[in-house]
Amino acid sequence: MIEKLGTVFKQFEKEISLLTNKADILNLKAKYIGKKGEVSEVLQGLKDLILEERQKVGPVANEIKDKIQNIIQDKLNKAEIEEINDGLKQNRVDVTRVESAFVNNHEHGGLHPITLIQQEVENIFLSMGFEVLDGPHIENEHNNFIALNIPADHPARDMQDTFWFHSPSGDVEKKALLRTHTSCVQIRGMKERRPPFRFIAPGKVFRCERTDASHEMVFHQTEGMLVGENISVTNLIYFMKVLLSEIFKKDVEVRLRPGFFPFVEPGFELDIKCLICGGTGCSVCKQVGWVELLPCGMVHPSVLQMSGIDPAKYNGFAFGLGLDRLVMMRYGIDDIRHFHSGDLRFVSQFKSY
Ligand code: PHE
Repeated sequence: MIEKLGTVFKQFEKEISLLTNKADILNLKAKYIGKKGEVSEVLQGLKDLILEERQKVGPVANEIKDKIQNIIQDKLNKAEIEEINDGLKQNRVDVTRVESAFVNNHEHGGLHPITLIQQEVENIFLSMGFEVLDGPHIENEHNNFIALNIPADHPARDMQDTFWFHSPSGDVEKKALLRTHTSCVQIRGMKERRPPFRFIAPGKVFRCERTDASHEMVFHQTEGMLVGENISVTNLIYFMKVLLSEIFKKDVEVRLRPGFFPFVEPGFELDIKCLICGGTGCSVCKQVGWVELLPCGMVHPSVLQMSGIDPAKYNGFAFGLGLDRLVMMRYGIDDIRHFHSGDLRFVSQFKSY
């Protein structure tokens, strides 16, 4: 009988080695150690044996039953892991592939039109050797006004209605405000540099204004400054013409009119010939044929002096490019308030990645 159990076990080992499928393994389990299984039948037959035989066969039969039980459990575990791995293989997501990364097809955002034009302007000036500076939105009275030739009692302060912070101190270096223009970055830039230098400073500016189609409380400028020896208005016109031709992708005609800003002398308003009508007059240029685009001028000697630069030796030009106006001109946008409306129908027209 013990011999028979040995052959049964060998047979079992042979059969199980061929199986990988869970159902087949369970069938084999029934065949050997199920109620009517071959080993179970031997165990049931024990009661008919004489005591001496029973004591010999019993433990062997039990041992074989346990062994079979363990081997089967082992095999079942392996089959289960195999099944999980197969499933993973079939539903595999390859995250290195773009279409897998966007399986949900969610809307994805783009850059704001002002950001796009700012990047364009930065690239144009970088290619002409300018640095790009950044300045804080919260400025002090010194940088925003005084060092730019706008003392406390100057009427030019009225042109720039200012958001002031409550400041306990009267110290102009500590009196805080939201910058009204990017010209304050001229002062920051001059403090850390000696001529010759050239930089631009793009960013948000703030004025306490009533809003309408062409006025916002928050808008965007790019300040520009170039200081060196023997700089002339011709240099200023050259850089402005390059900038505008690059932005509008065609040769633009410009003209200068006198303009007043306390930190430049002489100061100008630079106009471009209307790109919509070519100068014959239309609603965009209000029938004048020219559009006012860019205030600029030669840096005032006292501004250089206040920042520690000798105006007898050095001079330069500065300009303040309105980015909102530029985008509006380029795309024929008739209301500045669209920019901060948060209306996706507006901004999604400029999507770019
Ligand atoms: N800062 C001026 C403004 O915002 C513009 C300007 C800049 C004018 C540089 C001249 C030179 O109105």
